[in-house]
Amino acid sequence: MKILMVCLGNICRSPLAEGIMKTKVPESFFVDSAGTISLHEGEAPDKRAVKTAANHHIDISQQRSRPITKTDFDTFDKIYCMDIDVYEDVVSKAQNEEQHQKILLFMSALGDHKNTEVPDPYWGDMKNFEDVFQLLDKGCDAIKNQILS
Ligand code: 4NP
Repeated sequence: MKILMVCLGNICRSPLAEGIMKTKVPESFFVDSAGTISLHEGEAPDKRAVKTAANHHIDISQQRSRPITKTDFDTFDKIYCMDIDVYEDVVSKAQNEEQHQKILLFMSALGDHKNTEVPDPYWGDMKNFEDVFQLLDKGCDAIKNQILS
């Protein structure tokens, strides 16, 4: 099973989602992350994301930002998008129905129809990053249970 987590910049939410998901799934799983923009390409995750993950004993410092590519739609089985803008952008890049079917809103795994987005902590503070971590942790548990059941 190959899982791709996608956000806008690939420096805050999706690196955290990648780091958290890797702690929950068997080693046979491949988990990666990407952004819809290439503004931060090659950069390590935001320092606040690195610190928040480290507070939970997860090291995301070696990740590097990259934009989503055409081949990702063939490589990955599931592509989880952090918010609706990201989802719509990713859907617009899908080239056929099979690729389209792989794209999901990350929060849909939680079945909560009011909270459909992982809020972007980029303009926020450490509390926002911790809140996002908790949300991603819940979502990753739900995704793991869906995939393994
Ligand atoms: P992310 O957060 O999509 O969770 O990585 C952001 C990162 C960068 C920017 C916005 C959001 N930016 O405007 O550069």
